Amino acid sequence: MKKILLAVMVSGRGSNLQSIIDNIESGKLDAQISCVISDAESAAALERARKHGIEALFLDPEGKKREDYFAEITRELRKRNVELIVMAGFMRIVPASFFKEFENKIINIHPALLPSFRGLRAQKQALEAGAKIAGCTVHFATPEVDAGPIIQQKAVEVREGDSEESLSARILEQEHKILPKAIQLIAENRVKIDGNKVSVNWKGFEDEWK
Ligand code: GRF
Repeated sequence: MKKILLAVMVSGRGSNLQSIIDNIESGKLDAQISCVISDAESAAALERARKHGIEALFLDPEGKKREDYFAEITRELRKRNVELIVMAGFMRIVPASFFKEFENKIINIHPALLPSFRGLRAQKQALEAGAKIAGCTVHFATPEVDAGPIIQQKAVEVREGDSEESLSARILEQEHKILPKAIQLIAENRVKIDGNKVSVNWKGFEDEWK
């Protein structure tokens, strides 16, 4: 199968990046990472990429206007003919122009069952709301933060006595499955966007991320 060419945008730890890399290396995910782009020089994700021979770019946002910064990112992505941009813990507000440039080509992972608990510390928000079910979502990113057509979700039960850390850790395990799975679905051209909804053609899909 033809491999889909990805760019992964990160700001921190990079465990979701790692799960993409691991699934590519084990042959489960038909993708290739063209580059990893970070807006933070200290992001551990950059080191993870380099360790696997993947080009890791720190693009410094310091002192740049948002539009100019994202124009710089756009140039790097265009140069590499990237087919899908994966935001995996990318913590910066993205301008509408960037979404226009890469329409329906940007996906994001969020640690909540959207449309509930958008924004920062979604797991904490779920705990504070007394939710019994939390989870994670992979969705197409749109100018509205943590919104856009949903591709995959996974529910995670909230346990008595859960802390933000314990709940986050269990959600993260599921993030590491639904993100590569969503990428594979897109790589196999099984995902269709219809307005604010996504339909998936599951016929014959080999689910290796259960
Ligand atoms: C994840 O919880 C993701 O859902 C959120 O940011 C976190 C990134 O973690 N958007 P990592 O950098 O992939 O380990």
